[in-house]
Amino acid sequence: MDERIITGDMLKEDVDEINIRPQSLEEYVGQSDVKDNIGIFIKSALIRGEALDHVLLYGPPGLGKTTLAYIIANELGSNIKTASGPSIEKSGDLAAILSTLEEGDVLFIDEIHRIPRFIEEILYPAMEDYCLDIVVGNEGSSRNIRIDLPHFTLIGATTRAGDLSSPLRDRFGIISKLNYYTEDELYQIVMRTSRVLKMDIDEDAARELARRSRGTPRICNRLFKRVRDFALVEESDVITLDIMTKSLDRLKVDSMGLDDTDYNLLIAIIERFNGGPVGLEALAASIGEEVSTISDVYEPYLLQVGLLKRTARGRMVTDMAYKHLGIKKPLK
Ligand SMILES: Nc1ncnc2c1ncn2[C@@H]1O[C@H](COP(=O)(O)OP(=O)(O)OP(=O)(O)O)[C@@H](O)[C@H]1O
Ligand SMILES: [Mg+2]
Repeated sequence: MDERIITGDMLKEDVDEINIRPQSLEEYVGQSDVKDNIGIFIKSALIRGEALDHVLLYGPPGLGKTTLAYIIANELGSNIKTASGPSIEKSGDLAAILSTLEEGDVLFIDEIHRIPRFIEEILYPAMEDYCLDIVVGNEGSSRNIRIDLPHFTLIGATTRAGDLSSPLRDRFGIISKLNYYTEDELYQIVMRTSRVLKMDIDEDAARELARRSRGTPRICNRLFKRVRDFALVEESDVITLDIMTKSLDRLKVDSMGLDDTDYNLLIAIIERFNGGPVGLEALAASIGEEVSTISDVYEPYLLQVGLLKRTARGRMVTDMAYKHLGIKKPLK
């Protein structure tokens, strides 16, 4: 299958998105509850002169977890060290990272749910008591020694909070969920990106992009750059509504941000299961996909915008989906 342009996951073309990243809480659009709380905790930590409590950030890809982690370090005036779950394969890997920490540092671990369970246990005393328990010596004459660590803040990020073990989850003092952005928030992000990339955009064009970006800043910025290409080729120094709709139509992103994959899923439920309810397994088998791909990748946005709903007996398309697809709902 072709790469989906409307995926929240990071694609190769997004590498320069670091340049568009907001640097302070003030510049960080939306997520106001999360932002307000974290802002207060940061101020309090600074007043107390102590390390900020450990923070767990979770939510779908591309909503700003990594961005927020860097902002927290910035606002604390701390250095940030980074690691990712999959790169931590041996206990020594984690011990090595922890032993480089200095007082007040932020340690950001991305995809933290992917740290193997037996290594994760090293994090418990590190988070709770700021110490590292290691075994020295060889078999027969080994002993445990405890090394003090400086006070640091662990920021963990994950798209799958459910995969985190409860002992690990319980050790985070601050747990924040990032939600899909509203159209108004995405509009602000579009206008910000327009300033940063120095490419003008008309207000109605920006609104259109906000509507088609699936509540996700990463998608919004990616589409902005693609549409900019169309504008430049048309020798326009401003992105107009006409250019916006023409380019998004060509990119096959519809008025709600749906692509062929979304259509296939919704149409499969309508045509093969009479609109549902249908269990995830049956649905997955019918379209030849993994259950986890449907539940983690395909359906979250469809559920969020109300085209799909989850019932006790499975997934169902909504009246809105029939309307959006222009399919008449059969009488049951
Ligand atoms: N609140 C925001 N305000 C403005 N821009 C944002 C915001 N959140 C995210 N962005 C933009 O979206 C891009 C993607 O965000 P980020 O990399 O932080 O997502 P993520 O949640 O870490 O994704 P992943 O799950 O793939 O790691 C950023 O480079 C940034 O430009
Ligand atoms: Mg990230």
